[in-house]
Amino acid sequence: MKTVTVIGAGVMGNGVAQVSATGGYKVMLNDISNDALTKAMATIEKNLGKMVNKGKITEDDAKATLQRITITTNLEEACKDADLIVECVLENLELKKKIFADLERFCKPETILGTNTSAIPVTEIASATSRGEQVIGIHFMNPVPLMKGVEVIKGQLTSEETMKITLNYVEKIGKESAIAVDFAGFIVSRLLDVLMNEAIKLVQEGNSPEEIDKAMQLCAGHPMGPCTLLDLVGAEIAMHGMETMERDFGDRYKPHPLLKKRVQAGLLGKKSGKGFYTYDN
Ligand SMILES: NC(=O)c1ccc[n+]([C@@H]2O[C@H](COP(=O)([O-])OP(=O)(O)OC[C@H]3O[C@@H](n4cnc5c(N)ncnc54)[C@H](O)[C@@H]3O)[C@@H](O)[C@H]2O)c1
Repeated sequence: MKTVTVIGAGVMGNGVAQVSATGGYKVMLNDISNDALTKAMATIEKNLGKMVNKGKITEDDAKATLQRITITTNLEEACKDADLIVECVLENLELKKKIFADLERFCKPETILGTNTSAIPVTEIASATSRGEQVIGIHFMNPVPLMKGVEVIKGQLTSEETMKITLNYVEKIGKESAIAVDFAGFIVSRLLDVLMNEAIKLVQEGNSPEEIDKAMQLCAGHPMGPCTLLDLVGAEIAMHGMETMERDFGDRYKPHPLLKKRVQAGLLGKKSGKGFYTYDN
């Protein structure tokens, strides 16, 4: 496997492009927005610079890594040589299905089609193609360059060969896989989205985000509190995750109205500059 194509160059896509290029793959990074692609390359360059400063890689490594990444707004161009796709567009089922139908048209017959969805069942996304055996969930964690774990989700039709190639890819980019069964939310979002939704309820009941975060760090040993986590993940991602789980498992996964209101208000967290806390992007 030589070429990894990443569709969507936002928070997750730029990270996946970076770690794939660091792992030695040629990377095609696609987005509908030129601005997103330019920002993604600036972020990757900044991240690699930090790694050089820390002595983790040499300047030559950083340069070579950057040179392995090509950006394009042309999906067909991005797909034609891809051995593996990692789709990282917005968490929207219809959009993902449209993209997977296009991927089937533009990719080689043997290309593996991976999705970084946080919560949508992989089998549902795969239903937009006629190659379900080559569709798989590759759920990276945020921030991608720093988080060791990748949740790999085997859809109803995913073949053992697709699993094997994907697990090898995860290992080659220096990460470790945890394998999850294909139901809404998998393992990680099923547990974390509920935690973040409960934190929203605590805020509505009068607790401050600072105290909630402090309590969970000091008393439960969490590396970051749920309000900080929600800001990092993006409130809309957690809301869509809850909606997918509510659809499949019922009312107990209902996103809290305050979570929805915060999304409508643009209080997404780090990516919009303001959530529970303020960020200087
Ligand atoms: N944010 C997280 O912590 C996190 C963690 C794990 C998984 N995810 C999942 O990763 C995916 C992306 O999330 P994100 O936080 O990076 O979102 P984001 O909003 O930061 O980025 C999404 C990108 O997709 C692009 N896009 C939209 N339509 C497109 C199209 N048709 N073709 C190409 N690009 C298109 C947008 O321009 C944008 O740059 C979602 O499915 C999300 O659930 C997110």
